Amino acid sequence: MKAVVTPVRTLEGRLTVPGDKSISHRAFLCGALSRGRTEIIGCLEGEDCLNTLRALECLGVEATRKGSGHYFIHGVDLHGFLEPGNVLECGNSGTTARLLLGILAGQPFTALLNGDESLRRRPMNRVVDPLRSMGATVMGRQNGHRLPLAILGRNPLRSINYQLPVASAQVKSSLLFAGLFADGPVTVEEPAQSRDHTERMLEAFGAALQRHGLAVTIEPGRPLQGQTLKIPGDLSSAAFFLVAALIVPDSDVTIDSVGLNPTRAGLLDVLREMGGETAVTTYEEAGEPWGAVRLRSSQLRGVSVGGALIPRLIDEFPILALAAARADGVTEVRDAQELRVKESDRIRALTEELGKLGAQIEELEDGFRIRGGTKLNGATVSSWGDHRMAMALITAGLVAEGQTVVEGIECIQTSYPDFFEALRSLTGGPCVRLEP
Ligand code: S3P
Repeated sequence: MKAVVTPVRTLEGRLTVPGDKSISHRAFLCGALSRGRTEIIGCLEGEDCLNTLRALECLGVEATRKGSGHYFIHGVDLHGFLEPGNVLECGNSGTTARLLLGILAGQPFTALLNGDESLRRRPMNRVVDPLRSMGATVMGRQNGHRLPLAILGRNPLRSINYQLPVASAQVKSSLLFAGLFADGPVTVEEPAQSRDHTERMLEAFGAALQRHGLAVTIEPGRPLQGQTLKIPGDLSSAAFFLVAALIVPDSDVTIDSVGLNPTRAGLLDVLREMGGETAVTTYEEAGEPWGAVRLRSSQLRGVSVGGALIPRLIDEFPILALAAARADGVTEVRDAQELRVKESDRIRALTEELGKLGAQIEELEDGFRIRGGTKLNGATVSSWGDHRMAMALITAGLVAEGQTVVEGIECIQTSYPDFFEALRSLTGGPCVRLEP
């Protein structure tokens, strides 16, 4: 499928975006690990989260869908999972694979995991190596470092004190889940703060967690108790409309009820530094900061992004690159090698595809450099099978002259099935046509 996009004159309106993808995965997992029932309101029903849910069902967890984004998860407690009768299919979802591996490491049975072509290319050693040192047995391609792989858990696992080589919430979360099954405390220390949804949620479910700077320790032994969880909108999905509002003339867009966890909100800081006119109101609900974000068209200027800021906007670089292409001056992103192992190699993909639209973008080993302010011209571009690339390129089509064709848009289903409806509600007109 492809999207044929034509420029829009303005974007206007208020919108809520679907539930946060990271928090939705964790809600399903924590619900499954708990005693009693967990009610989840507003979760994302994108393919990635549904893969987590289906994997849990294969492990014997019962889930009842009450309505759109509304689920009851009937927890099986820490030791009630059943050996799965089939391969756990993680699809495109790194979060499903890595977080599940942490839980499976503590189970007394073998489970097989697989993923789509993109996920089979992505590194699993970052979780497999520490889980092995805790006592799990993992076999698979490239010495168990790539899916498909098999894991045989061990109970209890050995306690460890682990320094993450890169800031990664997926690795941290995987080890914290494994820590529930350890014979002593498990400490994970990151080089920079990554998203902390797992810590917040495990605490809400009753786990014993301590945080010291960039280290977090889980003490096993306490059961998790089912909760009622309300999930905020996903800032990473809102990001496309926020940047669109800044770069399309005369625009004024408000996103309501969106998650504003500071470990995720780096994009807002960067857009503000670029001169974006942003207004944010926040409140706390269900253990997470929520709020409304209003953005209006602004003349942007280039910035430098690197260091500890990177994990706070790790998923937003495709859309940030578009903002940079429209800004005056140079934007440089460094220290972002992680972008090479996302759903696509986002450094290479951005350089090639934004380049086709006329952006002056240069690939760096650990990021990219963009000389902004050049006119973008419609062209045929590819998503590389990566949902965030697809949505960023469609957003680029709103400001490029002529027609932009984005090929390979099915992947948007992984995180934002209603993306086109939301876009149309803000443009008030037909700016995008879908074709087979
Ligand atoms: C996620 C963490 C990030 C992010 C991914 C979701 C999570 O990955 O890119 O989309 O839910 O924990 P890393 O932890 O590998 O950086």
